[in-house]
Amino acid sequence: MGQRKLKKFAEVATFSNVFQPSISPVWDSPFPMKGKWKSDYFKNNNLITLELGCGRGEYTVALAEKFPHRNFIGMDVKGARIWKGAKKALELKLGNVAFIRSRIDFIENYFAPTEISEIWLPFPDPFPRKENRRLISDVFLERYRNISAKATKIRLKTDNADLYSFALGQVKKNNLVMAYSCADIYSRGNEIGDERSELLTGIQTYYEKQFLSLGRKICYMEFQL
Ligand SMILES: C[S@@+](CC[C@H](N)C(=O)[O-])C[C@H]1O[C@@H](n2cnc3c(N)ncnc32)[C@H](O)[C@@H]1O
Repeated sequence: MGQRKLKKFAEVATFSNVFQPSISPVWDSPFPMKGKWKSDYFKNNNLITLELGCGRGEYTVALAEKFPHRNFIGMDVKGARIWKGAKKALELKLGNVAFIRSRIDFIENYFAPTEISEIWLPFPDPFPRKENRRLISDVFLERYRNISAKATKIRLKTDNADLYSFALGQVKKNNLVMAYSCADIYSRGNEIGDERSELLTGIQTYYEKQFLSLGRKICYMEFQL
């Protein structure tokens, strides 16, 4: 492993806004913040948005700056990626940001029922041959349901047409309420509306920039759990 990555691993472990339980946690004792994120970490009663598979946490940081009266938590298994978002949030003194380094598969161990009010999924891995690993598969939707408040919105951004079509199918199959969907957000500026457009095209993740440079279309949908 490269020196720079090792340095980031060491540094991220010291950040006050990053939680990284051991890779094989003993789950018979609940995660200390579970059910207490608002009271014990954020020290307010504001709603919590999650960014799952957050990578460098572009959405977590940008949304936290834009919405100071909401709390944001980015989650990813890759510590060197989280480092970037966490460092920026510390530099910007954003008290409404946290990151968790963990597999999302264990999400119910970090949050209590109804603790979450919104979930962003920017460019999740499509896992073409492993449906259950997709962050919008039935198994993950059930996990989200177990930690979310009523009518929690899931926002998915992807360059992958197959994953987009799979997600459309998931919404239909599970009788979920589709609030909005668009197969090419950058060519539909007028239709999207200013507010949504600012969130969708005004914030670009690391992967998104790469996909755009390759000329890929970016799809988006938001639906209620
Ligand atoms: C394609 S990258 C996108 C990263 C970022 N959202 C972006 O748009 O730049 C997918 C990310 O999801 C993370 N990921 C995928 N499955 C995961 C899981 N089950 N638990 C935690 N992280 C996961 C990967 O580590 C990776 O950082």
